[in-house]
Order: sequence, then C-alpha cells, then structure tokens
Amino acid sequence: MSPQETPAGGPAVAAVVVLAAGQGTRMRSSTPKVLHALGGRSMLGHVLAATAPLQAGVTVVVVGSGRDQVEAHLAEIAPGALPVVQEEQRGSGHAAAVALAAVPEVEGPVLLVNGDAPLLREETVGALVAEHTRAGHAFTVLTAAVDDPTGLGRIVRDASGAVTAIVEERDATPEQRAIREVNAGVYLGDAAALRSGLARIGSGNDQGELYVTDVLGLLVADGAPVGGVRAEDPDDVLGCNDRRELAARRRTLNDRVLDRLMREGVTVVDPQTTWVDVTVTVGNDAVLEPGTHLQGTTTVASGAVVGPDTTLLDCTVEAGAEVVRSHCLGAVIGPESTVGPFSYLRPGTRLARGSKVGAFVETKNVEVGEGSKVPHLSYVGDATIGRGSNVGAATVFVNYDGVAKHRTTIGDQVRIGSDTMLVAPVTVGDGAYTAAGSVITKDVPPGAMGVARAAQRNVGGWVRRRRPGSPAAEAAAAAERRADAPGDPGVHDDDEGQQSR
Ligand code: UD1
Ligand code: CA
Repeated sequence: MSPQETPAGGPAVAAVVVLAAGQGTRMRSSTPKVLHALGGRSMLGHVLAATAPLQAGVTVVVVGSGRDQVEAHLAEIAPGALPVVQEEQRGSGHAAAVALAAVPEVEGPVLLVNGDAPLLREETVGALVAEHTRAGHAFTVLTAAVDDPTGLGRIVRDASGAVTAIVEERDATPEQRAIREVNAGVYLGDAAALRSGLARIGSGNDQGELYVTDVLGLLVADGAPVGGVRAEDPDDVLGCNDRRELAARRRTLNDRVLDRLMREGVTVVDPQTTWVDVTVTVGNDAVLEPGTHLQGTTTVASGAVVGPDTTLLDCTVEAGAEVVRSHCLGAVIGPESTVGPFSYLRPGTRLARGSKVGAFVETKNVEVGEGSKVPHLSYVGDATIGRGSNVGAATVFVNYDGVAKHRTTIGDQVRIGSDTMLVAPVTVGDGAYTAAGSVITKDVPPGAMGVARAAQRNVGGWVRRRRPGSPAAEAAAAAERRADAPGDPGVHDDDEGQQSR
C-alpha cells in the first residue's frame, strides 16, 4: 500500500482545500498574492502541483480578493478544481468553513493548505498523509523547526510531547514566542472533525479573525486524537507574504532545481546567475553557462550548450546544439545547430540539424533546412528555407505589406546575396542565386541568378572637378600618377567589385 492509499484502496484524501482568498496586503500589489510567480508557476500552481499526486476526489480553491483573476488562472492551470467564493475575508478558519460548506458530501480526510506555500513538495504532503493515516488521527498539522519563527504560528506541545495548540505570534506569550517549531499552514483533518471544530472557533484574538489553527485546540479539548508531523526540509513550509520573501522563495526553489540538475549530470557553471523553472528538463552533459534563464516548457537535450546570457522560453534545444547570448521564444533548435551570439528567435522558428542563425538575426515562423545558414544581420519572417542554403548578410524577408503577412520559399543549395530584399510572396528555386543588393519581387527559377538592382555607372573625374583640393582629390591624383608610371597595374573603371562573404 502506498502512503497515498487507504486500506480499502480508495484515495487517502477525499478533498484538497486551498486557502487562497486572503488579500496579501503585504505584497502591495494589484495582483492577488497567490498569482505571483516563481520558478515557472504561480504560488497557487506550486501548491496544486504538490497536492495533485494525492488524486483527491475534489480540489476546492477558496477565492476572494482578486477572485476574477484567480478564477481565470485556475481555469487555465487546473480546470478540474472548484473555486469557492469567500465573500468577506474573515480569516483562514472562515475560509475553510466556506470551502467545506460548498462540498457537503465530502467525508473522510481533507487536506487544508495555505495558497502561499510555494515550496511545499509532494513528498512532504505524502509524509503528512502517511502519518495521519498510520496514527489514526482526527487532525494532523504539518510543522517545521525553523531558525527564525518570526510571524508564524507556534506549535505548543505538552510535557509528553503531544501537540496541544497552535498559537499565532501576536497572541503568544513570551515563552510561546520562544518556540521554534512552527505551523506550516498545511493540515489534514477528518471532514466531520473539521466541520465540528470550525463551527466552534471564535474571533477572540488579536486580529479579530476566525483562525483555522484554533480547530486543533478545540479537538484536543474534545479528546480527539491529534498530532503534528515535522517536515524533513523546513524550507517546505515557508510561506510568502511580501516581495522579499518572494525573492527568497524563488532563490530556494531555483537552488532545488539546479541541485537536481547537477545530480543528474548537467554542468551549471554559475548557479548564482542561472535560473531554471521547475517545468524545464535538461539532459545530462548539457552545459548551462552563466546568465542562462530556462523557462516554461523548455527542454535542453544532452550535450547542448546554452549561454552565457541567454533566455529560452518554451524552446526545444536538441542534442549538441549551441545557443549563445540569445533570446528565444517558442523555437525548436535542431541537433548540432548553432544560434547567436545576439540572435532573437521568435515563435514558430524551427532550425533543422546543423543549421545556423548568427549575430543580430531575428527569425519568426520560419523553417531553416538542414545545414542552412543565416549568419549575420538579417530578418527572416514567414519563410521556408531548404537544405544547404546560405542567406547573405543584411537580407530582409519582406513579409508584411502593411495589411497581411506573406511567405517566402527558398529552395535547397540557394545563395541569397548580401542585402537582398525578398518581397513576399516570392520563391527562389533550388540552386538559384540572388545578386547582392537586389530587391527580389518575382520568383527566381531553379539555377537562375536573380538580379534586381540598377546597373552601376562611374562618373569619371567627379572628385577632381567637384571636390578640388580635398584629401580625396589628392589621393585620386596620386593614383592617376601611379597608373601613368610604367609597370603599374593601374585602376580601371570596369573592375569587378569584390564580393563580401
Ligand atoms: C498562517 C497561519 C500560521 C502559519 C502560517 C504559515 C493562521 C491563523 N495562521 O498565518 O499559523 O504559521 O500561515 O504560513 O492561519 N486566507 C483566506 N481567507 C481569509 C484569510 C486568509 O483564504 O479570510 C488564506 C490566505 O490566502 C492564505 C492563508 O489563508 O493563503 C493563510 O492566511 P495568511 O493571512 O497568509 O496567514 P498567516 O498570517 O501567514
Ligand atoms: Ca501566509
């Protein structure tokens, strides 16, 4: 039997209730507290992820402050969860009572959890469930021994070590304040015991609120079996009430992710400046250089190198690829391909094996074929590029006519000359070239050279006549004198210009 199953085989937890209606005043934010994000999820998202493995019959989220925003977010990340409105924020105990009233059919163990506990892990929740079930408690509180208990509820135990009460700091005696064991804000209670306790709590405390924590003392007085379980990692229980705590929790979460990655064989050159969301996967022998941010659904395959100073959101980096000093959103970077430095890859970019997007290149909605290159200073939007093609420096895929976007198709083994404007819709066939500086508005057939620029005209002697006495005129005169001297190769009007590469 796994800890998450009852002897009968049903789910060990009938309901999960997330308390998320509080104002979060100390955040000083127009965003509800539980929607603040860290490590790739909202606080609420982390709590739901930690409790999802319980597979509870129902998940209730108590909403109140900023409820429209919270409900919209919930519909996105956990459409199966049931939002229940707490009209007036009268305290955590009132929130719990409102939740249980909304699911009168629920009986058996109910997990109550604060919505501002983003470091809570499923192992910790599992340990609470296992101990509650093993001991046959009516109510079990998750606790932790912390160095600094400031602001948290203290766990009061009697001489035998049994938990007798949870006392909020502002209501605590000096002796109670000295207690270092604190309430995590995560509780497992039998539905009937919770309902009976919540019906009796009062607001006779410093804040005049209804505290869920008072249920514990009432059940102890009833003689019901009650207990506490200490979290193995005290970080798990840390709440998040202001921006400083948010930054600290984000750092802890990141440290956990990086620790795991390094244990799995990923090189993290500088853990202090590397930020990886909990939703990201990285293969072994990948290297994350300093200043790397991996976000969302990004995956980085074995042996790939990312960074320094690179952000990847919802990207796929395949084996052996390199992404250097770049910003990439929703891109697929194929095996052995290279990106950067200073590339901006936007959604729909798909780079095939061994391809290259180089310095100061922006791409969007483009397929770059195997071994093809866009090495410098280009914009490539709404295009398909075949295999083995090269797009010269400063090429622009002119995809927008001011009203609609159009596609460009480039074949295999194409050479687009530097500074070509490809005015879409347009196609350049396999093996074709375009001349540097061309504005290509018509299709170029396979194997043709598309030239679309004015022919060059040299106006002889212009500098001598129009800029007499200037350094340019003197240099030109000197060149002419050398050209007249026997044995000098001279300078001719019709020399072919050098091609830049
Ligand atoms: C609470 C605990 C404290 C514990 C700490 C852990 C109480 C009385 N105290 O303190 O013992 O150490 O968490 O972080 O619960 N909420 C509602 N409706 C309300 C009021 C609160 O839904 O009317 C929700 C909040 O959104 C929050 C949770 O309940 O998720 C706890 O409320 P909060 O004000 O953050 O309590 P703390 O003072 O942090
Ligand atoms: Ca809190």
